[in-house]
Amino acid sequence: MSKIISLGIWALGFLLLASQRHSPLLSNMGLSVLAYKATAFFIPRVGAAFIRRGFAGKDMNKIEKRVIPETMGAVSALVYFMCMILFIPILFYKYLVPERSRDQQDDQLNVLNDGYASVAKTQFPHDQLGAYLSAVISILSISLLGIFDDLFDIRWRHKFFLPAIAAIPLLVVYYVDYGVTYVSVPTLLRPFLKRTVVDLGFLYYIYMAAVAIFCPNSINIIAGVNGVEAGQSFVIGLVVLCNDLISVFHQSNTEAMRAHLLSIYLVLPLIGVTAGLLEYNWWPSRVFVGDTFCYFAGMVLAVVGILGHFSKTLMLFFIPQIFNFILSVPQLFGFVECPRHRLPRLNVKTGLLENSYTEFTEGIPLPKKTLLTIRVFEALYLIRVDWDQKTKKPIRCTNFTIINFVLYHFGPMREDRLTLCIMGIQLVVGIFGLVIRHGIAPLVYPQDSI
Ligand code: UD1
Ligand code: MG
Repeated sequence: MSKIISLGIWALGFLLLASQRHSPLLSNMGLSVLAYKATAFFIPRVGAAFIRRGFAGKDMNKIEKRVIPETMGAVSALVYFMCMILFIPILFYKYLVPERSRDQQDDQLNVLNDGYASVAKTQFPHDQLGAYLSAVISILSISLLGIFDDLFDIRWRHKFFLPAIAAIPLLVVYYVDYGVTYVSVPTLLRPFLKRTVVDLGFLYYIYMAAVAIFCPNSINIIAGVNGVEAGQSFVIGLVVLCNDLISVFHQSNTEAMRAHLLSIYLVLPLIGVTAGLLEYNWWPSRVFVGDTFCYFAGMVLAVVGILGHFSKTLMLFFIPQIFNFILSVPQLFGFVECPRHRLPRLNVKTGLLENSYTEFTEGIPLPKKTLLTIRVFEALYLIRVDWDQKTKKPIRCTNFTIINFVLYHFGPMREDRLTLCIMGIQLVVGIFGLVIRHGIAPLVYPQDSI
């Protein structure tokens, strides 16, 4: 039965792809279905070879701590790039192939082709191809960084800013093709500020570079629980797709429609390859996604936000990652010690995941900034701190991550439930973001069409 369903999915993919003469969107859907199947096909077949080359990791939240293949995001990324490249002639099909009827003579065809070639040259949308290729270059370079990170465990301060360099092609295309750097002022504030828009100029480009830095890194630090890296990316991908579809069907502005269509072409295959990966990364994981996947998926999402002209809306969908980043600041910036791994710990007796802790060495006085930080975060119910009743000194505190925050408030849970919980939060936040963008924002920013 499962074989029949699998064959059916392959067939559906090819059928949709074959419809390319009518709609690049349907073909892109077909390619994405095939991308899902191809990723799920290759992952189990290349796992052993990855382990032999050293791409392997220990599944820390299992009793037996098995070693399984890591860096499987490289397979997703590779399949994704295949799709991107195959899609180029499909997207520009109408500019590449002349319309012709079967009964035309050869010589007539030659004349027609010559004529067509010159028309194609003048009408070919080089700007669209430029935008598309800049997306591919940015995603490709950041996936390379991910592979190097999985190979050499690069320090985070060394790799942190690299996505901004990878984003340069995107920013150049944005500048040349679109160039909008203003933000609308909400209706209520307009009488006070006496203007409808504020131009951020160069700062807007800094903001977009920051988005490119933030997205890949923020996915990489909500990690360490089976399925959570791919799960959050999958949900954000779906939410971005909904945002694009709503925009495409409700926009009268062709510029905005084109931008959102481009975003769909980039995000649909991401959803496909992530679903294929998730099949093997879901609890109990048979493979790990690696930093390669986190960077790759994060960059695709940043790219669609920038080229789709909705980088501000995108940040609404990244609220869980923003929360996790703000929560992580004390550990990332050394106010509180940051262990190499902050993932939760398995209680072997119950089989449930519990909070992981940062332990404070007895007898070594803690710096004032550490004490102040843990007191403030404890008072805000963001972390739990165990205090020594006699000395009134902290013994340990839960690690500063959204995963530990969920375990602190909802109690220990099985690994897959924890992933589902994070995905659930991501989905609720995504729906909230869509309501804000499409329900409330039009009332507050009446002229903001994109
Ligand atoms: C980030 C987190 C780190 C977390 C790690 C888990 C920060 C600053 N860094 O580090 O706290 O522990 O991700 O990925 O927040 N692993 C599992 N189960 C999983 C996924 C991963 O046990 O479901 C383990 C495996 O041993 C795997 C390793 O995590 O080999 C991968 O860690 P890596 O991606 O190298 O960690 P970082 O991204 O540096
Ligand atoms: Mg990682």
